[in-house]
Amino acid sequence: MTTSNATQHETEFANSNLEILFSKQTIQEKVAEMGRMITADYAGKELVLVGVLKGSCVFMADLMREIDLPLTIDFMSVSSYKDGTTSSGDVEIIKDLSNPIRDKHVLIVEDIVDTGLTLTRLEEILGSRGAASIRLATFLDKPEPRIKKELEVHYTGFQIPNKFVVGYGLDAAGRYRNLPFIAVVKDPSAA
Ligand code: IMP
Ligand code: MG
Repeated sequence: MTTSNATQHETEFANSNLEILFSKQTIQEKVAEMGRMITADYAGKELVLVGVLKGSCVFMADLMREIDLPLTIDFMSVSSYKDGTTSSGDVEIIKDLSNPIRDKHVLIVEDIVDTGLTLTRLEEILGSRGAASIRLATFLDKPEPRIKKELEVHYTGFQIPNKFVVGYGLDAAGRYRNLPFIAVVKDPSAA
């Protein structure tokens, strides 16, 4: 491996195909605000944060450190079935929760809500397991492509236009999850 030379190669964080939408500081302030709301709402309740892998991992790590309550965490990994270009709305559980959620107050933590199909199905699956309550927290919300209009998202960081974004856990074909900011991919075919 050769030593990188900043004058010859652009770095990943300064990739010219990216346009920053939310800076690290803007994100930090928003997550702190969400954490304060959740802290107030769940005082005295047995809270379980359920992160949806892989996209939510960065948001989850930041959010839980802004919730000043006793809590536990768990993770799920799901994959959406796509028939052609449209998502059927069914999801396959790739990794299930490690612990039961009966009588617990579950807060599902997502990176982004787009069509809403994944979260609608996830809420149904977890809803059949006897949780005391189930709510959704998402860092980003793209309302425009929403198919499941009735999906209620209780905590939203930012609403964004219908553009493909990466960073802060969000990927394009597996890349860019490590960006400390949220960016729009200018040319998706070059991503
Ligand atoms: P949906 O709400 O069922 O359409 O699925 C949401 C999932 O699609 C998210 O958890 C992301 O994994 C992915 N997704 C949607 N929009 C974007 C985006 O702009 N960038 C990266 N991933 C996205
Ligand atoms: Mg994803």
